[in-house]
Amino acid sequence: MIQEWLKKIELANSLGSLEDVRVEILGKKGVLTAQFTKMKDIPNTQKKAFAQNFNEQKAKVSEAIENKKTVLMALALEEHLKLEKIDVTKFNMQPQNGAFHPVIDTLDKITTYFQNLNFSVEEGPLVEDDFHNFEALNLPKYHPARDMQDTFYCKDGAVLRTHTSPVQIRTMMKTKPPIRMIAPGNVFRKDFDITHTPMFNQIEGLVVDKHNKISFANLKHVMVEFLHHMFGDVEVRFRPSFFPFTEPSAEVDISCIFCNGKGCRVCSHTGWLEVLGCGIVDENVFKAVNYENVSGYAFGLGIERFAMLIHKIGDLRSLFESDIRLLGQFR
Ligand code: PHE
Repeated sequence: MIQEWLKKIELANSLGSLEDVRVEILGKKGVLTAQFTKMKDIPNTQKKAFAQNFNEQKAKVSEAIENKKTVLMALALEEHLKLEKIDVTKFNMQPQNGAFHPVIDTLDKITTYFQNLNFSVEEGPLVEDDFHNFEALNLPKYHPARDMQDTFYCKDGAVLRTHTSPVQIRTMMKTKPPIRMIAPGNVFRKDFDITHTPMFNQIEGLVVDKHNKISFANLKHVMVEFLHHMFGDVEVRFRPSFFPFTEPSAEVDISCIFCNGKGCRVCSHTGWLEVLGCGIVDENVFKAVNYENVSGYAFGLGIERFAMLIHKIGDLRSLFESDIRLLGQFR
């Protein structure tokens, strides 16, 4: 019998079939186990020899199974390693491409558009004085319109600039007309929610030329062309509005790019998205910078707002969290 069992063990060619053999011999209902139940029928004088013989057989079988198991496990491991083999010489170290942050990407696109129209790019300080941020822009002290801008005040009357409009003033004070400029950069306002962050980017535009040379029609044409360049085939509408530094002033809407003007959550079911502010430069602004006999238009827009619309980003704050999972989507 034992020879037959040992043969069976030897022939098992997988861990599974070895287990079957083990159950067949040593399991609860196994053939060897069954022998043990015969013990009670053995005369007492032979019991010792019987038990000894039983234990020997059991030990032999167990050992054979263990040995075979070791062999089969080694074989299985070898098989597994063969399948998992990594050819390091084949390893393809593709460098990961970086991507422009959507804000920078949008900023570039807008800047390039106006540079192609011969606008110069101007810069100004982030910490401004009251004169450039407010006063010269027809926002005298205690003017109620100052409340429109949730200003961060610094020491000695300085402010973090609340818009890029002070760069208009700085540029006009250092150059003679005609002027055709844009001013991109950071601005700061005390505001923080899903569509506002305390720091964001604006682009300001200013065109100044001889008296009567610049009209609202010029402004309108440039804005419509620009918005078509940025958003494709959208409708553009001008709504009368108020800015202290322009008169008349307008806010400009495009038909909602998410619902094609039908009305959805993003456009608050109006079918329109507000995208910029603009107007004809107020005479008082020219007075503040000693310009005479000139006319001009100005516009200002939020770059993050454009980036959110172009890339369909829901939460403005996510633009400043540097989450690689978001940024990786803009490759
Ligand atoms: N400075 C304005 C703002 O921040 C935008 C603007 C600029 C409006 C130029 C008209 C003309 O809200």
